[in-house]
This record gives sequence, C-alpha cells and structure tokens, in this order.
Amino acid sequence: ASASGPKHLMSMDDVSPDELSKLVLNAAAIKRAVKAGEPSPEFSAGLTGKTVAMMFSKLSTRTRVSTEAAVAMMGGHPMFLGKNDIQLGVSPVHSIKHMLDEKAHPRNQVNESLLDTSKVISSMTSCMVARVGPHSDVTELARHSSVPVINALSADFHPLQIIADYLTIHEAFSKDAKELVPGGLKIAWVGDANNVLFDLAIASVKLGVDIAVATPKGYEIPKVMEQLIQQQAGTTKNPGKLIQTNVPEEAVKNADILVTDTWVSMGQEEETKKRLQAFSGFQITSELAKRGGAKSGWKFMHCLPRHQEEVADEVFYSDRSLVFPEAENRLWAAASALQSFVVNKGKIM
Ligand code: CP
Ligand code: NVA
Repeated sequence: ASASGPKHLMSMDDVSPDELSKLVLNAAAIKRAVKAGEPSPEFSAGLTGKTVAMMFSKLSTRTRVSTEAAVAMMGGHPMFLGKNDIQLGVSPVHSIKHMLDEKAHPRNQVNESLLDTSKVISSMTSCMVARVGPHSDVTELARHSSVPVINALSADFHPLQIIADYLTIHEAFSKDAKELVPGGLKIAWVGDANNVLFDLAIASVKLGVDIAVATPKGYEIPKVMEQLIQQQAGTTKNPGKLIQTNVPEEAVKNADILVTDTWVSMGQEEETKKRLQAFSGFQITSELAKRGGAKSGWKFMHCLPRHQEEVADEVFYSDRSLVFPEAENRLWAAASALQSFVVNKGKIM
C-alpha cells in the first residue's frame, strides 16, 4: 500500500505490539458489550450500507462464519465469493486458441487477474477479506485495492486467528482486564511449522511471550520466516524468545500452553502420506505433557479443523482444552479487525 492508501492486515508483522494489544482488548470489549446486550450504536451501525467482499479460494468454516456474522452484527452486507463465483482465474490462459478450446478450458473459467479483480471489487465494496494460496496473492490484491484488505489465511499467515488466540489466552491467563497477558508466559508449539505458527510466533515475540517450537527434522521454520519472527524483537522492549527443537519434550518443558495444528495444510494434500510418517511421535497427549514437564495448569489450543493424529481426544475434549472458546473468539476477532481496519479506516484505537 502507498503511504496514503488504505491500511491492510496481511500478517501480524503489520501491527505494532500496542496495536495488537488494542485489537485483542477491543475484541474482548466488543464481546462483553454484545453479550450484555449493550453494543455501542457506533459498533452496531459501523458497517451500515457497506459491503464486505469475502473472496475465498479455499474451504472455511470458522473464518467464513465469523466474518459473515461480524459484518451482519455491524449492520453491513457480507458478500461471499467462492472460487467458482467470480472470474478470478484458476487456470492460466496462454493463448486465444487455448481459451477457445472448451475442453481444455471451459469458457466460464476465464482468467481474470488479481489486479483487475482487485480494482473492480474494491470500487464497489468497503473491504476485501481474502483466503488465498500463495501469500503473494493477497498482497497483490492489497497493492491494487482502494479499500482495506484483510488476509483470511494464506500459505504464510493467519492474522485473524492470532487475534482470536491472544483473546483466548488473555481470558484464560490474565488477572486484570487491562493486562493483555501476564509476564513470563510460555507457549509450546508441537507439530508443523505452518502459516498459523508463523503469525503466532510473530505476535508472541511482540507481546513478550516465549514460544518453543518442536518440528520433525526437515519441517523446521524456513530461514526467511525465522528472520521475520526474530526481527519482531526490535518492535518491543520486552520481546518473547523463539526456541526451536526437534524434540517435543524440550518444547513442552515449563509451557503454559500446548498448541498444534494440522500436519497437512490446505494445498499440501499430495504430501499426506509422507507427512503422517514424518510427524509420528508429535501427537499431543497428556503423557507428552507429563514427560516433558509442562506447567501443572497447562492448557491446550488448536485453530481447528483438527485430526486425531496431532492431538489425542483425551486432551482435545478435556478441561485443559480451550479450542471451543478459541473458535468462538474468531467472531470477536473479526469484529475488532473490521472495526479498526474498515470503520476506523486503519486507526487502531
Ligand atoms: N481456524 C480456521 O481458520 O478455520 P477455517 O479454515 O474453518 O476457517
Ligand atoms: N494450517 C491450516 C490452517 C487452517 C485454518 C491450513 O492452512 O490449512
């Protein structure tokens, strides 16, 4: 985005530690007010007469439902555009001849570029919320958009999830409504180094929360991403530490929260067999927490959707599990992000 253009939410790298705290605490305030039946008129009418385009090239339960529900709650119109609803190209058209070959390329799959799509949709709506494959797809949409663009999950980042996750951590661990998280907190991520982890790690370093990551060999955080995570230390006086290991027990030691996600993210389906083998031994169980020496009151989190291989039922459905409040918090995170990025035009107050 140009200096004068709209402020977009591509990843947790786009917000300062203070802005991230405000996004989370505003989500908490919206949640309290709506549950008490007293949302402010500014909130409830924030998107009146406005349309939020939701361009999703991958499946979604939580992100879709939370965004649509948040827009409705704020008086706006959520317009869901799945990958078969708009002309945004899925398969490249190299020549007129190819385009005219109905079998190779059905006529209803014309390839309209991200540039053209962004200019057109942003001229008619107040925000684009986009779920994409490569992260460059969402940054390309943002680059040409006249309205704020919010990343609804890309191959690299999932900012709305992390606002919800920190709201969940705040509710489970903070003694004081004004304190985002208590000092000295440690997260253990056991599993794949993926989009959700990258944004969680960026946010954790910013917020002074230590994060220990255990992945199998060959599935570590890529170097460029590690650098981006470590760079966050420069944004705050009290950065959290990033710790990396190939041993789940080491990550779990003294952890307050054990977190994981699927071992096979959307788009990696053809690697399923190889991944299930590589990740064996990385399932989160109470035995692992005990062996590794997690704190006695440890909690479990997962962005969902979940499979049994990455976390046993005895943890997933236990009192330690925060997964369902975490899922609900996606609604309040979406509302908070829409309020800051769309209603308040990028001013996070
Ligand atoms: N956690 C999450 O983003 O879920 P969906 O893929 O269902 O939106
Ligand atoms: N890492 C997962 C998260 C889904 C919400 C994926 O990208 O498929």
